[in-house]
Amino acid sequence: MIYAVVNQKGGVGKTTTAVNVAACLAEAGRRVLLVDVDPQANATSGIGVVVGEGLSTADVLLDGASAADAIVASDIDNLSVLPSHPDLAGAAVELPSRERREHLLSAALRPVAGDYQYVFLDCPPSLDLITVNALVAADRVLVPVQCEYYALEGLSRLMTTVASVRDHLNPALKVGGLLMTMHDARTRVSGDVVAEVRRHFPELMFTTVVPRNVRLAEAPSHGEPVIVYDPHCPGADAYFEVAKEVASRG
Ligand SMILES: Nc1ncnc2c1ncn2[C@@H]1O[C@H](COP(=O)(O)OP(=O)(O)O)[C@@H](O)[C@H]1O
Ligand SMILES: [Mg+2]
Repeated sequence: MIYAVVNQKGGVGKTTTAVNVAACLAEAGRRVLLVDVDPQANATSGIGVVVGEGLSTADVLLDGASAADAIVASDIDNLSVLPSHPDLAGAAVELPSRERREHLLSAALRPVAGDYQYVFLDCPPSLDLITVNALVAADRVLVPVQCEYYALEGLSRLMTTVASVRDHLNPALKVGGLLMTMHDARTRVSGDVVAEVRRHFPELMFTTVVPRNVRLAEAPSHGEPVIVYDPHCPGADAYFEVAKEVASRG
């Protein structure tokens, strides 16, 4: 199952979700691949892979390198990584003129996807061609939504983009779920936003709501998922529950 972690807003918890759900499923014994397709390469460094050391999604998408050659092991058993690199920013200029430009990631992952039970694609904060490539390669879309006002803003455009990719490029694509992130029980905003998103998308919301937890923000600077950095913090508990929901949704 290939999950694209998508939201065109930055800072909503895409990378945190991709890294930590991938790590939790790997810890549970599943074979998992984390693919970083954001030129910012936050998932790459956040899981402890040095940016720029080997081949990356930039080489795979722009220069035809094979995904198998670019994939590296992480420090977590069962978790492999296809790293990103800032050069992937060149995709914006280089890819539009390519043949089958929306299918490059899907084609690149096809030979390796069967080696993994779960693949997570950590997307950039946009709905550009890289994200469209991720949506074409994916079976499911996982949308982190930050618990703040205006959370719904942009979601309808995201849903329209998903529908358009389904209609024209990837008929199998489904929305795998909306995950509320950075919930702060002390503020009214958080509760209001969860209720509002639930009202608009009752069947799509994950039951688990990820709390705001400083451990989740600290872990990436140590190159570790939160279940390694602090396995008993509320953020780790939440992502274990999210991973269970992902596994049970199939
Ligand atoms: N639940 C959370 N609690 C506290 N900080 C968080 C949480 N989720 C994400 N963060 C922090 O918020 C920032 C944005 O999260 P990130 O996952 O990088 O978002 P995106 O990938 O959507 O841009 C990062 O500094 C991250 O560490
Ligand atoms: Mg990110």
